[in-house]
Amino acid sequence: MKEILIATKNKHKIIEMKKMLEHLGYKVLTLFDYEELPEIIEDKDTFKGNAKKKAETLSNYLNKDVLADDSGLEVFALNNEPGVYSARYSGEDVTYADNNKLLLSNMENIDNRGARFVTTICLYRINQEPVYFEDYLYGEIAYKYQGDNGFGYDPIFIPSGDTRHLAEYSLDEKNVISHRGKCVQKLISYLKLGE
Ligand code: IMP
Repeated sequence: MKEILIATKNKHKIIEMKKMLEHLGYKVLTLFDYEELPEIIEDKDTFKGNAKKKAETLSNYLNKDVLADDSGLEVFALNNEPGVYSARYSGEDVTYADNNKLLLSNMENIDNRGARFVTTICLYRINQEPVYFEDYLYGEIAYKYQGDNGFGYDPIFIPSGDTRHLAEYSLDEKNVISHRGKCVQKLISYLKLGE
């Protein structure tokens, strides 16, 4: 069976990505399968740079094919912030709720609520050039929280063409439209071509 390591410990991402890759016949490993790994600081200023750094470091260390993604939220009226700082928008060791609260307060007097989620995936295979995939989910920042599903900024994000917040979507529904779901679909089409 083909093996691939997803370079994440984010349980939500693992659930979202594992399901799609297992359908393709991959045994999916995650960072939880290893006890000691090098620490990787996500210090690049692009999603692509961070995804490559994670995948390359782990692939070289473990001698395995690795898939790393970096994702985040870009709010147009805030100069595309929080961007690569999405996880630590309000500081280090903060909760999703802290970040959402700060974002809503920074958007208080802003009418242009347009935003997009971005995912970049780097597929880093031994002795091959890295391959990148990117996709987006466009929408608007809401004025209030709604929904209990998903994670991160989902409770305050309304996908374009809908009135529901992303945290009101089921996982399967989210996977169809989300930046990560569509990005993984691109990856899967690519992997299928190489079979
Ligand atoms: P990461 O660095 O790729 O793990 O993601 C950075 C941050 O972006 C996460 O901690 C979330 O705050 C945000 N984010 C990424 N994807 C999503 C999503 O699908 N929904 C909500 N927030 C997300």
